[in-house]
Parts: sequence; C-alpha cells; structure tokens
Amino acid sequence: MKRACVVGWPIAHSRSPLIHGYWLKTHHINGTYTKEPVEPHAIKDFLLTLQEQGFVGCNVTVPHKEAAFALAEIKHGSATAIGAANTIWFENGKIACANTDTYGFMTNLSQTAPQWQQNTGPIVVLGAGGSARAVVYGFLQANLHDIRIFNRTMDRARELAEYFGPAVSAYDWDTRNEHSQDAAVIVNTTTLGMNGEGDPGIDFANVNQQCIVADLVYVPMETKFLQAAIARGLTTVGGLGMLLHQAVPGFEKWFGVRPEVTDDLVRLIKRDVEST
Ligand SMILES: NC(=O)c1ccc[n+]([C@@H]2O[C@H](COP(=O)([O-])OP(=O)(O)OC[C@H]3O[C@@H](n4cnc5c(N)ncnc54)[C@H](OP(=O)(O)O)[C@@H]3O)[C@@H](O)[C@H]2O)c1
Repeated sequence: MKRACVVGWPIAHSRSPLIHGYWLKTHHINGTYTKEPVEPHAIKDFLLTLQEQGFVGCNVTVPHKEAAFALAEIKHGSATAIGAANTIWFENGKIACANTDTYGFMTNLSQTAPQWQQNTGPIVVLGAGGSARAVVYGFLQANLHDIRIFNRTMDRARELAEYFGPAVSAYDWDTRNEHSQDAAVIVNTTTLGMNGEGDPGIDFANVNQQCIVADLVYVPMETKFLQAAIARGLTTVGGLGMLLHQAVPGFEKWFGVRPEVTDDLVRLIKRDVEST
C-alpha cells in the first residue's frame, strides 16, 4: 500500500485528506493520505525519515514550507523561484520538492476566466507573503511585464520586487485604488477576508470592466472582495479551484495517476467548506 500525508502545525483544518481520499477512491488505488501534525523543531527529522516511515511523499504546509525546500536535495522549477516547497517525493532515494501553488493558481485562473490572457494592463497583486510569491512567479512565466505588488508592510513588497526583477514593482498599500483602475487582473493574496474578517478595500467602481478579480481566500468561498467585484459586473475567480488544482501534481507523483478536478470533487469540498 502506498502512503502519503500532509504535514503541518497545526494541521487539523487541512482539506487535503478529503481531496486525495476522493481521488484514491475514484481511481481504486490501494493507498492512504493522512494528516501528520509535526512541530517546527521536529520537521527536519520527520522529513529525513519520511521514506523509512513508509511514506512515498507528502504535502508540506505552514509553517514548514521553507524548511522542506532547504532540506530537499532535488528542487524543481517553481520551488526554486519561490524558495518554498509544498510537495515532496523521492527520486532515487533523494528528497525532491516542488511548489505547486503557481500551477494551481494559474490553472484555476485560465480554466475559470481564460479571457484574462486577452486583457492588457497591469497585474495587481495585493499582499507579499508566501502565496504572493507563487502568484507573481506564475504571471512572470506567462511573460507579463507590469506586475504591481501592494503590501501593508512596504519593505516586504520591495523585497519581493527586487527578488523578481524589473517586471515587478512595489507600491504603497494606500495607493492600491489609484493604481488598479486599468488592471488586467487583480489578485488578493492577503489573509484579509478569511472567515469573513477584513477586506482588501478595492473600489471596483473605478476598475475597467474587463478586469478579472481573483481571491486566494476560499473560506468563505465568496469573500466580500469577490462580492464587491460581482456587484460591479466583473468576472471573479475564487480560491477553492487553486486548492484543488495544486493537489494534482503531488497525487500523480505518489500514486502514478494524474487525477482530475471534477465537478463532483468541487461539490464535495464546497460542502465541507460551507459546513465550517
Ligand atoms: N487557495 C489556495 O490554494 C491558497 C494557497 C495558499 C494560500 N492561500 C490563502 O492565501 C492567504 C495568504 O496566505 P500566505 O501563505 O501568503 O500568508 P502570509 O505569508 O502569512 O502572508 C499574509 C499576507 O497578508 C497580509 N495581511 C495580513 N493582515 C493584513 C491586514 N490587516 N491588512 C493588510 N494586509 C494584511 C500580510 O501583509 P504584511 O506583510 O504587512 O503582514 C501579507 O502580505 C491565506 O488566506 C491563505 O489561506 C490560499
């Protein structure tokens, strides 16, 4: 039997077992996917003995993504660009890692609102944390040259812009409305809106009608940010699809089948999110 898991601290809230459990069942695979709570001081030992413990790999979540990246001997594309890993597997006994958040975000965006690629104008990224890195990298890979980062803590926005180079610029958080009006895409990567608390504060009345508005937050599934964009007739992309798509490459690595994000799976996870 093949065993995989998600490791984090805390980990009780993770929906990954539900997603991978669904795919294991639909593909009739003899495998398991469990939650493993591991404290920060124990993550190194946990990952170094992962194979001995009988796992074929794992997902890594907060706060272990940077530690997992540092430990891995083989680092695949997006993980290197982002400096953090969320998916671990083995190649000839060596720990290999990737960061599938970029894939998850861009796949979800392109499936839900493919017209974003026809839009001209800057990409507005609200936030400069771990997920902002994954999102910025996705737009850079798509050859976008005007990516604007707005973050409450300006230094973090500057750091990200310097890291990624001239296509990415840092802006003062308070200027986010005046610099968003001609945006092709606006993405919220902050925690604002999570569990209904807070809002990134974009006035969509002044934003062009073609702009696509995306939120990484998926609890609730329709955040106040998305509701405000919908009220102005804009097309929106929620965070749940990213969560589902980012899980695809890991499942394929561990269990040998490329799974699909089906309507049935979306309904299952929606029900779970709505019941919290
Ligand atoms: N859908 C998915 O699959 C997916 C994947 C990854 C993440 N997410 C979601 O994305 C969100 C961010 O995750 P992360 O890992 O990037 O978190 P993170 O690294 O902790 O970054 C948090 C970001 O939120 C900003 N922020 C927090 N409170 C704020 C406030 N009151 N006002 C303005 N900005 C504020 C922070 O700004 P400062 O720098 O100023 O603190 C920072 O830019 C979370 O809600 C997470 O659940 C979803």
